Amino acid sequence: MSGFTAESKDEHVRKDISCGCGGSVLSSALMKILVTGSSGLIGSEAAGHYDRRGHQVFGLDNNMRREFFGPAGDTRWNLERLTKSCKNFTHLELDIRDRDRVLELFRKEKFDQIIHCAAQPSHDKAREIPFVDFDVNAVGTLNLLEACRQANPEAVFIFMSTNKVYGDAPNEVPLKELPTRWDYARPEDYHGISEECRIDRTMHSLFGASKTAADVVAQEYGRYFGMNVGVFRGGCLTGEHHSGVQLHGFLSYLVKVARSGETYSIFGYKGKQVRDQIHSQDVIAAFEAFAERPRPGAVYNLGGGRENGASVLECISKIEALLGRKMNWKYVDENRKGDHICYMSDLRKFQAHYPNWKLTRSLDEIIERMVKGA
Ligand SMILES: NC(=O)c1ccc[n+]([C@@H]2O[C@H](COP(=O)([O-])OP(=O)(O)OC[C@H]3O[C@@H](n4cnc5c(N)ncnc54)[C@H](O)[C@@H]3O)[C@@H](O)[C@H]2O)c1
Repeated sequence: MSGFTAESKDEHVRKDISCGCGGSVLSSALMKILVTGSSGLIGSEAAGHYDRRGHQVFGLDNNMRREFFGPAGDTRWNLERLTKSCKNFTHLELDIRDRDRVLELFRKEKFDQIIHCAAQPSHDKAREIPFVDFDVNAVGTLNLLEACRQANPEAVFIFMSTNKVYGDAPNEVPLKELPTRWDYARPEDYHGISEECRIDRTMHSLFGASKTAADVVAQEYGRYFGMNVGVFRGGCLTGEHHSGVQLHGFLSYLVKVARSGETYSIFGYKGKQVRDQIHSQDVIAAFEAFAERPRPGAVYNLGGGRENGASVLECISKIEALLGRKMNWKYVDENRKGDHICYMSDLRKFQAHYPNWKLTRSLDEIIERMVKGA
């Protein structure tokens, strides 16, 4: 433990923030970076990216995705890929629920940046394991934030949140039905769901609730303690390195089923429900932009936006065109509880704060790479 009292630590933070958040505090120097959930989709992209840039990367993951989703969710292949390809990557077999070991790790390593992606990520799964879900998503996040505050409060802390913090409130936006998709009916909703959408008095699923708890706690470490915390509410995050399963990883799973010839089940909304896909590389580019000029406690929606929005039926058509054959799917006339009918992230707040960031991967390109197994 350091000798700081909580108060003196706060002062230390404020001093650092006041001189640090306006400039490129972290862009040029080599950093010690902790990535949690480093064997998962976003974590592995972050680990590989920062390793290629010469930083020292610590990847924390206990392969809990396998416990959640069975063998298809196993992420060890991704860990092996990272250990083979990275130059300065250390794997930490650690559970973010293990508070003592997390505190010890932070005291020992003094990270400059934390990218927190470890999670129980499925809203349907959470109902079967409410304690585990809350302990991983909410308590695990608190463990990391508090460990960071105690050990290195000036670090940049990026938290990967989710659009499920809005629960099913986005379904209240008036919609129009088009031949292959739902879309927003009013011109003022054209750009999608913004950070102004309310997060309470809405049905989240237990997953959405545990992530909302984490999201609000993370904001507090930015607002109350002045730490360089950024909260990113993901739309549909995707890429070749997802261990997609039916309960999580929509596009990855859809492509997997299409390639194997098995049958995909569409749940409700006539298959016209819209998701906005963002490639994991574009997610990491957003983290990097934030880390260069952090805004303590800021919240951003981050997804593919209207540009990369498509319905399940439209995604199936794109995959069929690439495969040159029809895929097998069946329609189940019952939507998933609380599922969004049409969700496209309004990216304008992030783009206004970080104008150099933009989407670089179109939906067609994303799907093509996944179908070809790139
Ligand atoms: N993929 C999406 O579409 C999406 C959408 C919105 C938000 N998110 C959020 O983004 C983050 C990353 O998502 P992802 O798709 O990369 O998930 P992922 O499941 O691919 O990766 C998460 C990783 O965390 C690890 N993990 C889980 N519990 C752990 C624990 N207790 N201790 C240590 N490691 C643990 C898992 O083994 C897995 O490798 C999550 O917070 C998720 O809620 C994802």
